[in-house]
Amino acid sequence: MITNEKIYILDDVGLPATITQDGLKVLGYAFEYHRYKQGIEYLNALQAEGKGIVDILLLTDPTMLHRAKQRVPLELRRNLAIVVLGSQDDFVELGGTEHIINHFGAVDILEMPVTPLAFKMLLHRIEHLFRQRHRFALLQQELSESQNELQRISDLGAALSNESDTEKLLDTILTSCMEMTGADAGSLYFVEKKPGTDSNEQDYFADKHLRFRYAKNMSRDIPLEGFIMPITPQSIVGYVALSRAPLTLPDVYHLPEGVPYSFGGRAFDEKWNYRMKSMLTVPMLNRERNPIGVIQLMNKKRDFRVPLSQNLDEWKGLVLPFTKRDELFIYSLASQAGIAYENKLLYEEQKILLESFIKLIADSIDKKSPYTGGHCNRVPILTEMLARAACESQEGIFKDFNLTPEQWYELHIAAWLHDCGKITTPVHIMDKATKLETIYDRIHTIKTRFEILRRDAYIDYLTAFQRNGISPETLEAEYKRRLAQIDDDERFIEQVNIGGEYLADSHIERIENIGKQKIVLNGETRDFLSAEEIYNLSIRKGTLTPEERKIINDHIVVTIQMLEQLPFPRNLARVPEYAGGHHEKMDGTGYPKGLKREEMSIPARIMAIADVFEALTAIDRPYKKGKTLSESMNIMAKMKAEHHLDPDLFDLFVKSGVYKEYAKKFMLPEQIDEVDEAAILAIKPKPLTVQTETATHS
Ligand SMILES: [Fe+2]
Ligand SMILES: [Fe+2]
Repeated sequence: MITNEKIYILDDVGLPATITQDGLKVLGYAFEYHRYKQGIEYLNALQAEGKGIVDILLLTDPTMLHRAKQRVPLELRRNLAIVVLGSQDDFVELGGTEHIINHFGAVDILEMPVTPLAFKMLLHRIEHLFRQRHRFALLQQELSESQNELQRISDLGAALSNESDTEKLLDTILTSCMEMTGADAGSLYFVEKKPGTDSNEQDYFADKHLRFRYAKNMSRDIPLEGFIMPITPQSIVGYVALSRAPLTLPDVYHLPEGVPYSFGGRAFDEKWNYRMKSMLTVPMLNRERNPIGVIQLMNKKRDFRVPLSQNLDEWKGLVLPFTKRDELFIYSLASQAGIAYENKLLYEEQKILLESFIKLIADSIDKKSPYTGGHCNRVPILTEMLARAACESQEGIFKDFNLTPEQWYELHIAAWLHDCGKITTPVHIMDKATKLETIYDRIHTIKTRFEILRRDAYIDYLTAFQRNGISPETLEAEYKRRLAQIDDDERFIEQVNIGGEYLADSHIERIENIGKQKIVLNGETRDFLSAEEIYNLSIRKGTLTPEERKIINDHIVVTIQMLEQLPFPRNLARVPEYAGGHHEKMDGTGYPKGLKREEMSIPARIMAIADVFEALTAIDRPYKKGKTLSESMNIMAKMKAEHHLDPDLFDLFVKSGVYKEYAKKFMLPEQIDEVDEAAILAIKPKPLTVQTETATHS
């Protein structure tokens, strides 16, 4: 720096006062003259007082030149300029003037005898030299500081955009600001919407308050307690938010006259034996130049790394005012930080919206049909329970299995979407309770036709009676036999329609015979049952035709199609794989892709187990009781033996107790019975036939 400190002359030549006095008279403000020996003593004493580095001009004769520098104590050598005084012959002997300057590091040469003028001119040159040296050092320091700051800004920019954890983001923002300004403490406030207030286009602040959100103090360990405060000019933070401009205060205990704000931290200082002094308060502005928060920095320190002690008397000179440079710097940084934080919040909100939307779809599928009940809501819970057990387990295939928070989210979303294809399955197929059901149960149409058959029988009876040829008794007996036949057929069709029992060939023959009867409808003679009605009634088991069964099973195909169409971001890229694999079987006989175990990720295999277990144990499906715990586990153990379910995951499901935990939450007490875990675990999957294809590949 350009300093008022003097340049100390150490004269080892012993120039007479007649030569020096002239120059010193003119340049006395810059120089202080000492004979060499006394000068060294004097400077050593200065050094001991902590005076630091001083500028020294050493006048030496040629014989001492080679060790001139060494004779000056090490700590005084930093700002040293050596000048040689001698004769032409001396200079030649030393290797010439060039050599003296380049080799011995002298800055100037003076020929003896020295004239007062030559000495004065020397002092001028030396003063100029030191001034240049200081300027250069200053520039160098500024350059390196700027480089550091630039590096910090770019580091911070990267950190701000990479940080996905909100708390860490806040810490990064505040710590960087403190480090860059040397502040001992800092706080972050955010502008928030007051719940239950209306926004006002004219007044940005109308529906807002400030939340004290994060703080840090290098010298005191202070627990963080968030609070809310109104945005008014009475507080420093409120004033800065309203004015949208930074505020630098050298001492908050001595505020400028007439300002609307006051310092509210005296109680804090007393409690923590602290003394807030210098303060820099800066608004974080968004793209519309509206404040979204405020950064407040306290007590700029001479040395950032040294904490401020409990003894306030020791603070003297340690706390400095914040500079204009600090202000500009934090001001530009604050908005960058504010925008990063706002983006983060926006991202969180979007995430919540996406999740709610996904749950809405799952809910509507569950509500659409009593056949799914709470399936779409419960499968995610069970999936996550088993995934957690897999993360915790250190055995076998789970040793290296772990999920990052991002991967948890991915699995969570996948589980909620696993049956989303069901949204397109027609309700009358999904809920088809009887064989004839379409949008409504066609049994009633057929019953009407039976009624026609009865009327026809009656009409036949009356017509024959009128013809008078046959005895009334015979006619009546015939009529009654016919009615009984019709009633029996009707009961049979009603029974068959329910689909409760397996249909034998004789039953199908009877359906066809009933169908072949003729009736007149709308003046047209037609078969009693249409081909399509006969086809549906002839379903041997259950109520679904093969075509309808395919539509139901196709929900997984639709699920995959729907999910593969969605532009999932990178962190959710595996949602289609996780969600679409829950009907696959580990031996490759599953649906729809016929994937094998090794082609499926652990989360996808977990979902398959969760899907089956929920379906077996559910108590909210019509026409079907929830199975008991032991029944369900035995069925699944068989599926494990058959390589339909992943054996390792199923064993983990048993050993971890996840199945019991789930049962307690979602099954009826009467369903929960004793499960023979040892027996289930003892069941080993049958050996898979080694395929030649696999063998040649290995
Ligand atoms: Fe499914
Ligand atoms: Fe499912």
